[in-house]
Amino acid sequence: MLKKGLFLAILMFIVPVAAEVKVLAFAGSTRKDSYNKKLVQEAAEMARQKGAKVTVIDLIDYPMPFYDADLEVKQGLPTQAKKLRELMIASDAIIIATPEYNASISAVLKNVLDWTSRGEKAEYSPDAYKGKKFAIMSASPGKGGGARALSHLRTIIEGIGGSVIKNEVAVPDAYKAFDAKGNLVSPILKEKLQEEVQQLIQAVSKST
Ligand SMILES: Cc1cc2nc3c(=O)[nH]c(=O)nc-3n(C[C@H](O)[C@H](O)[C@H](O)COP(=O)(O)O)c2cc1C
Repeated sequence: MLKKGLFLAILMFIVPVAAEVKVLAFAGSTRKDSYNKKLVQEAAEMARQKGAKVTVIDLIDYPMPFYDADLEVKQGLPTQAKKLRELMIASDAIIIATPEYNASISAVLKNVLDWTSRGEKAEYSPDAYKGKKFAIMSASPGKGGGARALSHLRTIIEGIGGSVIKNEVAVPDAYKAFDAKGNLVSPILKEKLQEEVQQLIQAVSKST
């Protein structure tokens, strides 16, 4: 018995433990009953089940002014933009669910992406993006599920230096896509989301 315990202790010492993947997740909507908040929560739960340490935030708790270069020079990064940027820097991977507004991403999300691409000295600074893996998704009441916003979001994140994984999920008919607990009803969409989250965790593991 003692020998077995000793063997296990030695094994734990010599076999390197896979580092825990740190994931930050948020939706580009501040609406209370946002479909995208539901979607990002479900993706976050899937990532937790795969062993990741996941922090889900709500952008309503990170109010910041519209990006303004004069304000930036005068006051630097707004407090909440700085906090959010630091959370992103501390993460290995970021999950973002975006609404689609007029065929693009929400203004709230674009503002967050703009501020978090800036540094403390009013300069372009991609530290919150470079070397990070991103998984993107969308939900909308329309038939396209927000796919047009997704393609814009991918371009923006890659433009700042982030790496967006290939898989993405767009949830159409969002008003009937979630059950009372906020989980996806469609087994097909659930599976697609599982695959996307799996790809995200694998992408981080391969790069570390
Ligand atoms: C100004 C405006 C523009 C919109 N444009 C689109 C659009 O282009 N495509 C779409 O599928 N839904 C569009 N919608 C509907 C949103 O997808 C819907 O409000 C959705 O619930 C927002 O996401 P959320 O539930 O996460 O807040 C638009 C809504 C607003 C207010």
